[in-house]
Amino acid sequence: MKVLVTGGSGFIGSHVCEHFASLGNAVVAYDNLSRSSLLLKKEGKSATSNWDFLKTLRHIKTIRGSTLDYSKLKSVMEDVDAIVHTAAQTAVTTSLTDPRTDFNTNLLGTFNVLEAARNSKTNPCIVFCSTNKVYGENVNSVPIVGKKKRYAYEDPKFRGISESFSIDQSKHTPYGCSKLGADLYVQDYAHTYGMKTAVFRMSCIYGPRQFGVEDQGWLAWFVIANLTGQQVTIYGDGKQVRDALFVEDLVRAFEAFIASGTKGGVYNIGGGSKNTISILELVDMIESLSRKKFKIAHGNWRSGDQKVYISDIGKAMAELEWGPRVGVEKGVGRLYEWVQDNMTLFKESNQ
Ligand SMILES: NC(=O)c1ccc[n+]([C@@H]2O[C@H](COP(=O)([O-])OP(=O)(O)OC[C@H]3O[C@@H](n4cnc5c(N)ncnc54)[C@H](O)[C@@H]3O)[C@@H](O)[C@H]2O)c1
Repeated sequence: MKVLVTGGSGFIGSHVCEHFASLGNAVVAYDNLSRSSLLLKKEGKSATSNWDFLKTLRHIKTIRGSTLDYSKLKSVMEDVDAIVHTAAQTAVTTSLTDPRTDFNTNLLGTFNVLEAARNSKTNPCIVFCSTNKVYGENVNSVPIVGKKKRYAYEDPKFRGISESFSIDQSKHTPYGCSKLGADLYVQDYAHTYGMKTAVFRMSCIYGPRQFGVEDQGWLAWFVIANLTGQQVTIYGDGKQVRDALFVEDLVRAFEAFIASGTKGGVYNIGGGSKNTISILELVDMIESLSRKKFKIAHGNWRSGDQKVYISDIGKAMAELEWGPRVGVEKGVGRLYEWVQDNMTLFKESNQ
């Protein structure tokens, strides 16, 4: 099988590339390396280290290019069997200050991927990385209770947000809108053109090779900040809860979809109700690993922040015969070890 991974140099994309190549598939990693300029400010070593890593692996071809360059995208897509589309402008904060870049990358970029796939001879299936942010602030209508270090759903039997949760009449952010627009297009290309497409609405994904910064990739950012002695700001009260999914478990879900006979659809995906963590709990977990206290500042609640978001992963589990294998404590431990082993990358990128 030949697999195209847009955003192949990114955190999730690099794991998708590594995994499919390790199974002997031919993989094309396609990335414009823009995370560096948008989020890491300059093309420091950390921004290209995933790219450099991919170049050391067998079965992977790296091509630098943008999803906004339709003719280049079309040419790299000519003979692929599957596309994992991870390329995106990924930060809510950037979408607020630069909504045009967010719109172009997330909506037009995805449209280009769909059109190039529709016009290719191989009729590839498509995995799209959507987000829980498509539900917007509607998720805050689920009754919650405050506990000492976390919020929780009031009804202990509530399994989390399912795919049928309303996306309408909700407050969003530009990022939520551009991802939702793309999400709907991906669904519609299955409906209108009979393509096999899956939309994965992802909660918090974490793991090694995640260059988390304050604006995106919070779990990795907290580990990096603690180990490099940088101050973190907790916006709101820190009791915000997410279900967290280790990146290798996510990649297995993508693989299960591609191999499955299902036509596709929408899947909410994260660690589910058994793998949740709050910011305050993460702080405790990291401090006990490093034995170093965080430098913490406090800020107001951020626009679009959800107090509790837990994915109901029942549909993905049933249809894809999939489930998370790596618990939060073990997964954070693996992320921590990776940061510890690669401290030079973070020191350089933060100069
Ligand atoms: N990490 C998470 O917790 C999470 C949660 C929800 C959704 N997502 C979605 O998953 C996907 C991957 O996220 P990630 O955490 O790996 O982010 P990432 O920033 O590490 O990876 C995105 C990659 O896309 C590349 N890119 C950006 N614009 C591009 C363009 N126009 N053409 C080609 N490449 C481009 C970037 O350079 C980067 O390497 C995104 O679509 C994001 O919206 C991630």
